[in-house]
Amino acid sequence: MKKNTLIAMLLIATLFNINAQDNLTVSQRLNLTIYGNMSLEDAETIKESHPNEIEILATSNDEAAVHISEEATHILHELRGTHGPGYLKASNAVEAIKQIRHTRTERKQQMNFTITEGESVSNALAVLSQSNIENQIIELQNYGTRYHTMPAAQMAAVDLKAKWEAMATTYNRDDISVRLVDHSNATDSTPMNSVIMTITGAELPDEFVIIGGHLDSTSGQLSNAPGGDDDASGISVITEATRALLEIGFVPKRTIEVMAYAAEEVGLWGSKDIANQYGSNNVNVVAVGQFDMSNFKSSPKDVYFINDSNAIDPTLTDFFKSLLDTYHGPSSNDAITYGTTACGYGCSDHRFWFENGYKTAFPFESSFQDFQNNNWIYHSTSDRMENVPGADASHSFKFAKLAVEYLIEVSKKSSSLSTPDFSKEGYELYVIDNSLKYESQSFSSPIKSLKIFDITGKRIYKEKELGNAGRISLSRFSKGVYVVSIVLENKKQLSKKVVLK
Ligand code: BES
Ligand code: ZN
Repeated sequence: MKKNTLIAMLLIATLFNINAQDNLTVSQRLNLTIYGNMSLEDAETIKESHPNEIEILATSNDEAAVHISEEATHILHELRGTHGPGYLKASNAVEAIKQIRHTRTERKQQMNFTITEGESVSNALAVLSQSNIENQIIELQNYGTRYHTMPAAQMAAVDLKAKWEAMATTYNRDDISVRLVDHSNATDSTPMNSVIMTITGAELPDEFVIIGGHLDSTSGQLSNAPGGDDDASGISVITEATRALLEIGFVPKRTIEVMAYAAEEVGLWGSKDIANQYGSNNVNVVAVGQFDMSNFKSSPKDVYFINDSNAIDPTLTDFFKSLLDTYHGPSSNDAITYGTTACGYGCSDHRFWFENGYKTAFPFESSFQDFQNNNWIYHSTSDRMENVPGADASHSFKFAKLAVEYLIEVSKKSSSLSTPDFSKEGYELYVIDNSLKYESQSFSSPIKSLKIFDITGKRIYKEKELGNAGRISLSRFSKGVYVVSIVLENKKQLSKKVVLK
């Protein structure tokens, strides 16, 4: 008998005689085509009801490495109540098993998270806009699909880079750069790029504070995957939080990176590639905040912190909670309540950051249980802002506040002299004849307050309502270097080093 005929017969036997499968070894079940991880509970349930659709390769705590059929993915989907996380794909058995072993890289990180930047936080919160979030969610939905292999997904990445660059230009920041990350040569290769904005830290540029979400989307119909909640809401939250920082002229001590990941929905590919690169280069990332789904409120509380011990750092998560306690406590007029919840396995981009030894936190839109019962638009063609409760971005707005607080409090406001180029702001500020002269060229916004610090950081002068132009005598101060810090009527903050000769 010819080899092909034999294979064909075997195939026919496999396909049409289910009972015959009992006599085959698992590896002979030709329909097991997908490797991955899922919760042990789900794996065992499927094994119980459909023993031929799954092989459990290994288990570790509450996770299983599995070899499954296409059919099993549908069973899992049903099992999970049509919506809800399913499994994390792996390219082969070795990878699937490795993924549940959680060989987390050890890192010594003594970063102490503190809350000290109340002034910057309240200024940034004051300029944060819910409608900006709404508009961007709609903008992203309008690509029709952002499924990673579709041309529209790459268009969304290119356009987001342009949007972030425009923000840097608007706020005259030459300490900001935006880049596309190519994943075409990664182990898990995708034509879609990730996008990263870098705000270089003025004092501790080697320490990275990362905030991210995924730009791609999915649904049962790959050409119609609006991904409004999952995860246009996350991308819009991190964009608006960053814009608020720039609007107040916030210059961070540490480097901030804002990341829009590619190809999350097919197995965290973009973030995995980036986190592995940062990890192998030993980049000093002090914190990673993940914003994936923030706009569909289906639980009594506002924010639910994912607490899976194999993907989340409890210290950073506790810090996020204390940010809410401090800025949105029960007695505040802007209270935000929170709880905790598990998603069962590394269900989003925080996973490979954690695996690389970094601290992660993931504030989510509802409890996992309520999400499963109520978020009917998840991974569907209906995932649009019109379909979330309230049909607006009011839920996401709370996450944007938390994002602002996280970015400012972890990166810390720089008191250094390297602030954005003052003259570009349309203001002139210089010392002449023992006086500080200030003059607005654009007359865009008058000066609300002006402070002068000496080189030790001691405030030696303070004045309010200075208008658009004037002169302050410095004759009583000794020669040396001073920092002039001004707040404009439009809340922008600027500072400049001046020398008194
Ligand atoms: N946004 C979801 C993750 C999520 C869903 C977190 C529900 C918490 C609750 C994400 O985009 C996603 O769909 N992830 C996949 C798994 C991933 C590893 C491919 C999933 O959960 O099925
Ligand atoms: Zn998703």
